[in-house]
Amino acid sequence: MYQEIDLDKIDINSKPPAEEPARQYYFMAKCREWVQEFERKKGRRPTAYVTTFGCQMNARDSEKLAGILEQAGYQIIDDEKADFVIFNTCTVRDNANQRVYGRLGELNGHKRRNPDMKIALCGCMMQEPGVIEKLRKSYSFVDLIFGTHNIYKFAELLYASYEAEGMVIDIWKDTDKIVEDLPVERKYSFKSGINIMFGCNNFCSYCIVPYVRGRERSRKPEDILEEIRRLVADGVVEVMLLGQNVNSYGKNLDEPMTFAQLLREVEKIEGLKRIRFMTSHPKDLSDELIEVMAQSKKICRHLHLPLQSGSTRILERMNRRYTKEQYLELAQRIRDRVPDIAITTDIIVGFPGETPEDLEETIDVVRRVKFDNAFTFIYSKRTGTPAAAMEDQVTREQVKQGFDRLLKVVQDTARSQVSRYQGCVMEALIEEVTEKGHAVEEGHSAKKGSAREEELSGRENVPMVTGRLSNNTIVHVPGDASMIGKIVQVSLDECHGFYYIGHCV
Ligand code: SAH
Ligand code: SF4
Ligand code: F3S
Repeated sequence: MYQEIDLDKIDINSKPPAEEPARQYYFMAKCREWVQEFERKKGRRPTAYVTTFGCQMNARDSEKLAGILEQAGYQIIDDEKADFVIFNTCTVRDNANQRVYGRLGELNGHKRRNPDMKIALCGCMMQEPGVIEKLRKSYSFVDLIFGTHNIYKFAELLYASYEAEGMVIDIWKDTDKIVEDLPVERKYSFKSGINIMFGCNNFCSYCIVPYVRGRERSRKPEDILEEIRRLVADGVVEVMLLGQNVNSYGKNLDEPMTFAQLLREVEKIEGLKRIRFMTSHPKDLSDELIEVMAQSKKICRHLHLPLQSGSTRILERMNRRYTKEQYLELAQRIRDRVPDIAITTDIIVGFPGETPEDLEETIDVVRRVKFDNAFTFIYSKRTGTPAAAMEDQVTREQVKQGFDRLLKVVQDTARSQVSRYQGCVMEALIEEVTEKGHAVEEGHSAKKGSAREEELSGRENVPMVTGRLSNNTIVHVPGDASMIGKIVQVSLDECHGFYYIGHCV
C-alpha cells in the first residue's frame, strides 16, 4: 500500500532500480526534477488534466494517474487546455472510440496555441492494434500512448516522453503482474473504488473487454484489506469493490478464497460504513454470497446483475452460460432472502440474430424481475469478437423500434420500483452540493435541463445537497457542503421517477 515516500531522498543520478514499485518512485523523482525546471523557466507549475471514458475500473485507474502526476509536481485542473492532458479511454462500444477521436481534434487546436503541451492516451482502446495504426497515421501530434497492462509504469513513460522526439508508444499484449503501492489521488474524500481483480476470462461473444484487459487476476486479500483500512483512516466511509466479475474473485489465488469470504473480512473493518461491489455475473453468484448480503449490516441493498438478454437462445449465442429461467430463479432467490434489495441490470438490444420474439423474452424478464434501473445498449460490433463474425447482424431500423419499446417498459418498471419507499425515512450518504440543472447520474431521465431542473426550480433559493441511499437511489435534500461525506436520516417526501426530493429528519 502507498506510503508517503520522500521523493527528495531518491538519488536520481544513480541507475534506476529494477524492482517495482521502487523503479516508479525513482521516475516520479526524475519527473519532479523536470517539473521544477519548467517552473523555473515559466514562473508557474505545469498543469495536468486527466479524463476518463468508460467504467469504474477506468475511473479508478485515472485516480492512480492523477496520483503520479501530483507526486511529480503537476497542478491537477479540470480543463483541456492544461500543459499535460491524458485521456484514459474505453472501447466497449464503438461510440466510445468515436468520442475520443472527436475530442482529440479539439486537443490538436489547443496544442497549436501551446506548443509545450503534451497529449497522452491510455486505457482499453489502446490495446486494439488498428487504433494504434490510425493514431500513428492521422494523429501524429499525440506524444505518449500506453495500454492497460503497463499503466503502473506511467511515471517511467512520462519521463520517456520528456526525453523523446515524437510519439512514445508502449503497448503490452498481456500481463500476469499486479504492481501494488503506487500513489492515488482520490476524486471523493469519503468514498473510493478498490480493485479486487483485473481482467476477465468470460469471453461473452460480443465483448472486447477480455481482449483489452487480459486474463483474470485477483489481488491478495491482505493487500485489499490493508488498502481499505488505510482509506478508512483517511476518511473513507464507503468502498466499492471493483472487478469485471467479482463473483469469481479468488479462484486463481495461491490460497483460493471466495468473494463472499472476502466480503466477510471487509465487513469487519471498523469505521467502514458501506460496502458496494461491481459487477456480478449471474452464472457465478453463489448462495454463500446471498447469505453474506442478507446478514451484513454494511453491504448496500443494491445488486447490479447484468441480464444482457432474456432470450435463452440469444444468451447461448452470447456465451453467457445461464438461461432465462436460471436468471429469473436467481433474482427470486435474492429477493426472498434480501427483500429490500434494488436489482439493476445491463441489456443489449440488436445482438446478431435477435428477433422481435427474443426481445419479447427480454421485456418479460424486465417486467418479472422489476429492475430499479436498467442500462440499455444498442449492440456494437467489436472487431475480433466471435459475434462480429456472425452473419445475421440486425439492421439499425429493426434495432431502433425494439430499443424504444424496451426503454418504455424499463422506465415504467423502474419508476414504480423506485417510488415504493415514498414517505419512508432512510439513511443517505451525502455526496455533493446539488448543482442546478446538473444531470442525475443514473436513470434514463437523466438529461440536462430535464424534469429535475423543473422540479428544483421552485426551490431556487434553498441550497440542496445530493445523497445516495443504500439501494443506490438518489435523494436531494436541503443542506450545505458541510454535510458532504456524512450519513444522515432523510425522509423521502416526493418521488420524481428516478430520484427523490426529501428532507433531513
Ligand atoms: N463485466 C461486466 C460488463 C462490463 S461492460 C458484466 O459482465 O456484467 C458493461 C456493459 O456494456 C455490459 O454489461 C454490456 O451490456 C455492454 N456491452 C459490452 N459489450 C457490448 C457491445 N459490443 N455492444 C453493446 N453493449 C456492450
Ligand atoms: Fe465482457 Fe462478459 Fe467479461 Fe463482462 S463478463 S467483461 S460482458 S466478457
Ligand atoms: Fe470500457 Fe475498458 Fe471499462 S473497455 S467498460 S473502460 S474495462
